[in-house]
Amino acid sequence: MSYLIGIDIGTSGTKTVLYDLEGNAIAQAAQEYPMRQPQTGWAEENPEDWWNAAVATLRCVIKNSSAAPEEILGIGFSGQMHSLVMLDASGCVLRPAILWCDGRTRSECDEINARVGAQRLLEISANPALTGFTAGKLLWVRRHEPEIFAHCRHVLLPKDYVRFCLTGVLATDVSDASGTNLLNVAERTWSTELLEKLELDPAWFPPLLESCELAGRVTEQAAALTGLAAGTPVAAGAADNAASAVGTGTVLPGSVFNTIGTSGVIFAHSDRPAVAAGGRVHTVCAAVPHGWGFMSCTLSAGLALRWYRDQFCAQECLEAEQSGVDSYVLLDRKAAAVAPGADGVIFLPYLMGERSPLLDETCRGVFFGLSARHGREHLLRAVMEGVAYSQRACLDVFRKMGLRPETMKLCGGGAKSPLWRQILADQFQLPVTTMASSESPTLGAAILAGVCAGVYLDVPSGCRIVHDGGTLERPQEEAARIYDDYYPIYTALYPALREQFAALTQIEA
Ligand code: XUL
Repeated sequence: MSYLIGIDIGTSGTKTVLYDLEGNAIAQAAQEYPMRQPQTGWAEENPEDWWNAAVATLRCVIKNSSAAPEEILGIGFSGQMHSLVMLDASGCVLRPAILWCDGRTRSECDEINARVGAQRLLEISANPALTGFTAGKLLWVRRHEPEIFAHCRHVLLPKDYVRFCLTGVLATDVSDASGTNLLNVAERTWSTELLEKLELDPAWFPPLLESCELAGRVTEQAAALTGLAAGTPVAAGAADNAASAVGTGTVLPGSVFNTIGTSGVIFAHSDRPAVAAGGRVHTVCAAVPHGWGFMSCTLSAGLALRWYRDQFCAQECLEAEQSGVDSYVLLDRKAAAVAPGADGVIFLPYLMGERSPLLDETCRGVFFGLSARHGREHLLRAVMEGVAYSQRACLDVFRKMGLRPETMKLCGGGAKSPLWRQILADQFQLPVTTMASSESPTLGAAILAGVCAGVYLDVPSGCRIVHDGGTLERPQEEAARIYDDYYPIYTALYPALREQFAALTQIEA
């Protein structure tokens, strides 16, 4: 038998899946790690946690399958985007990674605009200066931690750091590099103009590869730690959303998917690198050579439900522990008992500020419309509906760009919830389907590894192993009408509160 491995360096944890060449998951393992929030709106993780999780999950999938290490033909990576990893000359991590959902870099984004010009930045990097993107984080470290900045010799993204530990090779891929604000996205090269204007040393940025290209091979040392065979080829891999595009078969113009993971993303494949809607949705290189993607990203999707569960659902968590039923399944049942519209409670899911389509790191979460008759289950349903409103607001931007999807493929943890799927179908007013593989990023990463190892001819032909999940939620007229009544209130709340959000941030600072 022959196998491929996909590893996803996610925000809540790392998942590793061993697939056969038909895309069947033979063994899988996951390990969580903590995200630290030293200040409101900040988010950091320890890159060593990612590497330890990759080692542990690799060991586990190899042990739990009958695969001999030599039968593993290739390894591919997917990873959370934008998060800054800084290494010194000997390859040691200099500080915790500053994550994609960290909004501390407003002044540095202003600095980027002042040095480059907002319009020129859009022309080159196809995206505006965004607090989530990597360049601002680097400038933040230069301003606030000059002693750390002085030791920096290499800048990497999360999956690139773990791949570096596995192979000893410094590299990145064009889809992930698209999220740095430093790539010429149309040309798929680092922008010397941007690096010069921002006074960043080009030598710090690793060689750029297409996602399906060979980045390196497993070292003897990493082989001893993980149980892999030394010399196993490792593909460059892709940003998690670009990898999910491959893992959902979203590789042709006009195809689109929505993922409810920690973040909420809508991703549409394109054959041209146009700047989308003035930068209100991102333009990135796809994991398919000569392909690009338009992508919206909301910062708290699954994160909002996890937050609500952890803070307010101790009772359901205990029940889940005692009954062996997943806590999210219990929460789904509770929320389903409340009617669409949550009896007038509307949740703004801006727990980490918001990126698409608001581009405002100062906004915060809100429960609106509370009355004394509302209980915890109304708030729970409102959280799920608020996340769906935020995806609908992003889809509106895509629709204004001319995208006319006929169905929406859904992936990420949120796709496991029949209720969330129904709410999204009602809000999008589109049929919502799932994929056979619930792990689209790892499947995408494995397909990229397969192309790299010569198993599949190219990325689109590797996608023949991607299959639909067989679920279908159709929009329900009555619920869609209720959401149509509430949606204008949802969209009006942010502009009404914008100044208060900014004022609140001033007090916190
Ligand atoms: C995309 C984004 C997130 C992360 C985490 O721009 O910031 O989707 O990739 O998954």
